[in-house]
Amino acid sequence: MKDDNLFSPIKLKGLELKNRIMMSPMCQYSVNKKDGIPTDWHYQHYISRAVGGTGLVMVEMTNVEPDGRITDFCLGLWNDEQKEKFKKIVEGIHTNGAKAAIQIGHAGRKAENAETPVGPSAIPFDETFKTPRALENEEVYNMIEKYRYSVRAAVESGFDTIEIHGAHGYLIHEFHSARSNQRKDEFGQKLTLFGEKIIEAAREEMPEEMPLIVRISGTEFVADGYGIDGGIEIAKAYYEAGADIIDVSAGGEGPIPPFGKPGTHAGYQVPYARKIKEALNIPVIAVGRLDDFVLSNAVIGNDEADLVAVGRGLLRNPYWALEANQQLRKVDKNEIVPHQYLAGFR
Ligand SMILES: Cc1cc2nc3c(=O)[nH]c(=O)nc-3n(C[C@H](O)[C@H](O)[C@H](O)COP(=O)(O)O)c2cc1C
Repeated sequence: MKDDNLFSPIKLKGLELKNRIMMSPMCQYSVNKKDGIPTDWHYQHYISRAVGGTGLVMVEMTNVEPDGRITDFCLGLWNDEQKEKFKKIVEGIHTNGAKAAIQIGHAGRKAENAETPVGPSAIPFDETFKTPRALENEEVYNMIEKYRYSVRAAVESGFDTIEIHGAHGYLIHEFHSARSNQRKDEFGQKLTLFGEKIIEAAREEMPEEMPLIVRISGTEFVADGYGIDGGIEIAKAYYEAGADIIDVSAGGEGPIPPFGKPGTHAGYQVPYARKIKEALNIPVIAVGRLDDFVLSNAVIGNDEADLVAVGRGLLRNPYWALEANQQLRKVDKNEIVPHQYLAGFR
């Protein structure tokens, strides 16, 4: 009998997860000294979600260079000092029974504090953002090496899996979107080339058995943007380049006109994950208003996605997974609730 529910374990390459619940990456803007180094805030934030029964705890967008951050208070992974602090977070996540992931990214033209942000072309996000400088061809290759460095450092920090951020209008998304990439070189002729080369570099730094996750926007919400068919093509290109799992979000590439507004109902992005899974028959992660335990359980049970990522639900309640199990009763609570907290789950 098929036993696919929110609390069924899963093995993705060498990564064994005790359940299908992932903490979605969420920027905390909580670095103290603009140095990209994780603080005590990050430590308690991620460890409490591991205590709360989350199977895969993903650290927020962590950037490959100082000007790649959304703000100066975002995390970075371009030096050893940062790496040492991430090691502590990984150890704490492991001690509390979860697996650890980190999202590696670059904000591109959406880097708010960079004096001159960079992008594929000199096209601003909108009139409230700075106009980026188009990366020279050689700089694009250097940028790929910066991603490589951060991925290697993440592996050395002990993370069990790595997610490359290719969604939400940040640098990789800017390259694979025709609206923001009007280059004439090879990176303009093949829009997914930049992302593919980053994935290939990442794979070279990762153990064979460690799965690589790539987050993409499955659809864009703007005029002339790509739709789900474009999302499927991008997922295919990245899968063939070496990604193992596609984390399917949406949007972020420009101001959304009224006709493009996404739904805000529960599970509003699940159809994009399901369509990519159906088209390519590959593991996918669904995200977006999946706070309802029964709904999340159904997304897994109905084979719409292999994992569900919970964002705001886990900001409100670090013990989301424990409470989901309390309601759904899929696993004996003695197996998942820390003994110190059992009295709260009788
Ligand atoms: C405070 C906050 C910070 C976020 N930061 C990131 C991020 O670092 N990387 C990312 O891919 N998505 C980020 N997101 C999007 C979430 O990961 C998630 O996709 C989105 O919130 C929808 O899921 P939810 O309805 O469960 O919150 C952020 C969302 C919030 C609310």
